[in-house]
Amino acid sequence: LSGNGDPSVTASAPGKVIITGEHFVVHGAYALAASINRRVRVSVSSSEGASSTISSRGVISGIYSDSDRSFPVVRTVAKRIFSEFGKPKKPVSIVVASEIPAGSGLGSSAAVSVATAAATARYLGKEPGEDLLSDIALEGERAVHGSPSGIDVQASMRGGMILFSKNSGTKPIPMDRAIQLLVVFSGKQRRTSELISKVAQKKKEFPGLFKHLVDSASFFGLQAVDAATTGDLPYLGAIMNLMETSLSWIGASNKSLDNLLEQVQTDDVFGAKITGAGGGGSVIALPKPERAEALLREVASRYSHSFLCKVPEKGLLIEEG
Ligand code: PMV
Repeated sequence: LSGNGDPSVTASAPGKVIITGEHFVVHGAYALAASINRRVRVSVSSSEGASSTISSRGVISGIYSDSDRSFPVVRTVAKRIFSEFGKPKKPVSIVVASEIPAGSGLGSSAAVSVATAAATARYLGKEPGEDLLSDIALEGERAVHGSPSGIDVQASMRGGMILFSKNSGTKPIPMDRAIQLLVVFSGKQRRTSELISKVAQKKKEFPGLFKHLVDSASFFGLQAVDAATTGDLPYLGAIMNLMETSLSWIGASNKSLDNLLEQVQTDDVFGAKITGAGGGGSVIALPKPERAEALLREVASRYSHSFLCKVPEKGLLIEEG
């Protein structure tokens, strides 16, 4: 309980990796994604101050100070929850703690959005259903991404492995055994919306070619589901490698990402690719299980933000009530 007797609530939501189909999913393809073991925690409690605030890493800002550009996702989501369910009677403090670097392609804004929506709603004693919650979280993601496909929000909210398309929505993929991935953040932050615009330009220039690549991404996404669920790692790696060539063609890669991929594409892996929008951000590699730790040590000496994760992980959780 917080100081003045009101319950305080913490919700946590994971980041994600896209295994196949990023960018193409924006144009209608199936994509395969999984939640990861890096989370965002959002706590809501009543505040002794005069007005409601959002804070993270020592930066603090008023929820209703419209001139303030900080925390666009949290601000958008909290305001929407308060207009949906009614403002809290006393000022609140919303505190965000994230393990996911912003702009790293690992879905930090979606995780912030999902955790904020769940924590603020629960603080008001409400439990919106999955549809409303994802709708509100998507509005938060739009505040920074322009027109996202919705895959990040779905992966973060539901957890697990999901097959997603804009038309058919989200299909959870039950996994009997976990898959281990190496995630390497290039260190370069970038804006997803800029990469989405660059890809739209490519589509304009080569519409026929682009359409066939969207269709191919769907086919490979479905094959990747088979490979992942049967544990056929060489096949999954081969799909990731081919998807990388498409991502490169549409402009999601660059010299430094190619160099990063060249460093992880050793005999220790079955495949590797960009994950998320590219242009910087992160890559994922599918290591041979017995070589995973050694590969991590090798890569982490050059890229400090590298980690192994077993997918899938849990989705949205209310951690205290
Ligand atoms: O880089 P991220 O985590 O923002 O991933 C976005 C994935 C895209 O397909 C590029 C965009 C989207 O909304 O689907």
